[in-house]
Amino acid sequence: MAELDLFSQSFPTPASRIAELRASLAHHNSLYYTQAAPEISDADYDALFRELEQLEAKHPELHDPNSPSLRVGGAPIEGFQQIQHAVPMLSIDDVFELSAEAVEKSGASCPEHELIEFYKRLQKNLKRDAVSVTLEPKIDGVAVSLLYRDGKLAYAATRGDGQTGDDVTHNVRTIRSIPLELKFSPAPDPTSTIPSLLEVRGEIFMHHAAFAALNAERDEAGLSTFANPRNSAAGSLKQLDPKIVAQRPLAFLAHGLGAYEGAPLETEHQFHQLLVHLGIPQNQPILTAHDLDGMLAAVAQLDRDRHSLGYGTDGVVIKVLSRAERTTLGFTSRAPRWAAAYKFLPEQQETTLNSILIQVGRTGVLTPVAELTPVLISGSTVSRATLHNQDEITKKDIRLGATVLIEKAGEIIPAIVKVIRHVPDARPFSLYDSVGGKCPSCAGPITQEVGFVAWRCTNFECPAQAVTHITHFASRKALDLDGLGETVAEALVRHGHCRTPLDLFTLTEDILANLNLGTDEAPRRFGEKNSAKILAALHAAKSKPLHRWLYAMGIRQLGESAAKELSRLHHTLSEIPDSPILTELLRDTRATAKKQNEILAPYQISGEVGPAVAETILTFFQSQVGSQVIARLLTLGISPVSENYLPRPAEADLSALPLAGKTFVITGTLSIDRDEMKALIESKGGKVSGSVSAKTHYVLAGEGGGSKRDKAEKLGVTLLDEAALHLLLAGQ
Ligand code: IVH
Repeated sequence: MAELDLFSQSFPTPASRIAELRASLAHHNSLYYTQAAPEISDADYDALFRELEQLEAKHPELHDPNSPSLRVGGAPIEGFQQIQHAVPMLSIDDVFELSAEAVEKSGASCPEHELIEFYKRLQKNLKRDAVSVTLEPKIDGVAVSLLYRDGKLAYAATRGDGQTGDDVTHNVRTIRSIPLELKFSPAPDPTSTIPSLLEVRGEIFMHHAAFAALNAERDEAGLSTFANPRNSAAGSLKQLDPKIVAQRPLAFLAHGLGAYEGAPLETEHQFHQLLVHLGIPQNQPILTAHDLDGMLAAVAQLDRDRHSLGYGTDGVVIKVLSRAERTTLGFTSRAPRWAAAYKFLPEQQETTLNSILIQVGRTGVLTPVAELTPVLISGSTVSRATLHNQDEITKKDIRLGATVLIEKAGEIIPAIVKVIRHVPDARPFSLYDSVGGKCPSCAGPITQEVGFVAWRCTNFECPAQAVTHITHFASRKALDLDGLGETVAEALVRHGHCRTPLDLFTLTEDILANLNLGTDEAPRRFGEKNSAKILAALHAAKSKPLHRWLYAMGIRQLGESAAKELSRLHHTLSEIPDSPILTELLRDTRATAKKQNEILAPYQISGEVGPAVAETILTFFQSQVGSQVIARLLTLGISPVSENYLPRPAEADLSALPLAGKTFVITGTLSIDRDEMKALIESKGGKVSGSVSAKTHYVLAGEGGGSKRDKAEKLGVTLLDEAALHLLLAGQ
């Protein structure tokens, strides 16, 4: 017998050795990751692992998708398959901890008001006072569903829309604490069998320490860092290459049951026991309460203890203990009536505001960002907070050097709640003064639009806005550079070929054709054909009329109609900086209404060009960067000319047109393109505006067009169909 044993051990078949290695590695994995009680050294584990890898490579016929060797990640996938959940993955209703202000405002008795109401609903629906519930931390992670058939992991799916989710099996296999095959250790009793179907729901997340180490590593390698552990976990699960996921320190804890075929489970506790016996890591601690006071005490205890868990939690999930009672309670259309997620108020911390940095966004908005002494809050180190705009700074009286209270609501960028104290002699902070009245990115002029709180850089050549401006510059209604969309604009800026729209005119066939629209790993060449098309479009753009150029400059408030109106008032672009009309219009802001009309009447300036527009245009074109734009255009041989120049239309000319003085709004589907219809109306002296108001004369309504049609009816504005419009055009 002993001899036989020896024999079989010395000459195992590849199949038996592979099976043995797989079982052994799975066992040691579970000891290490689930029970934190390893029995062999890392080096011994690695040796077994390598042996298995080598044997599997030699014997592809013995491939098994659940082999522990695939923990390091298999081949990349093309995209995510969809998986229909066996049982819908519902969400839970939130009940919120109330802030002191909210308690006062709503007249609630205490911060736990909503939670108490939830418990009262349970009591009412179950018709008894003592309802037993379990309470456990609500993990701030990504929900997944693991489905085991006959003890083997069949798939892992994300929640998706609750009915179908992404198949992330390839990535989930790399998470070592998730068993790929279920085994009892120990078995609950000798007769127990592994459930034939077991769908475990849980959360994938990252521990704070692992997250910090990952970010530090990425930072060192010059890679972008993740905003928080949740984003990092979610981003990892969305990877197509499981080898990358295998490098990410993902963790999993189970918290619920989906589809199930196996020995009956009467209470939540029996389900928890099953998870223990199967070695599936589960969410902990799980407390039980049997009445309202017990529930409140357990919530308070979890709120104290959750901070030492080492990962992010943002609340407590409360579930009715008895499965039979859950069935009685049932579901609303969205969520079970037997569970609630009690969300704690966001965590707050005190720190010092060291400086305020002004960032320029893609659309030119200047956003103040607070630079703080770093503090740990909700599991990540915070050293910056958004201040939104000047109004917010003024409202909260934020000054440099102040001690401030910051909070992180969910995973959004932290915000300053309030100032706790100022340093002596600190002065109110002015965004405008702090940047010396100039854009910090390009030194261009900044303006605060009427009715808006944000300061914006109006420079069409501002590098911070390069992608937005180039994309707009190339759009159909601007210079119509067909083929030059956001992706191309982004690539041109990223590779340093364009900092401003006018740089487009310096591009060569060679640069464009070789432009990489993809990444370094997966390059995508723009190509000769596309390149030639864009160069031809750029050539044609040089002789486009003034209003197209004005519109192309992406100056806020200078929409298509205002650009047309400006080009009616000016012959060439170079006239605009010294425009007497605009100067008059600007001065006119302070004139009386009667005076205004006197000044403006001869020009017949439409509502599209008012003092606010005049101010933006003049400030820009009179600024240094504005005159540089004009000079650069001249150098490039571009001098846009108006095609509708008519600054002082004779009364007779205008009134002769059938739609003179009439304002139209177009809605619904017409027999011709909306732009064409607009051009037709304008050519007959009418104006087209975007929204219906009391000043609108006609609403031209095609098929559909619900809300504008309703508004017209409400305001008593005449509705026209296309036939009626043609009668008007014919002067009838
Ligand atoms: S139980 C019927 N328990 O929170 C749904 N969910 O806001 C039962 N979550 O979709 C879910 N920790 O992804 C449950 N201890 C926990 C949880 C938890 C986090 C997530 C879960 C759920 C979401 C609902």
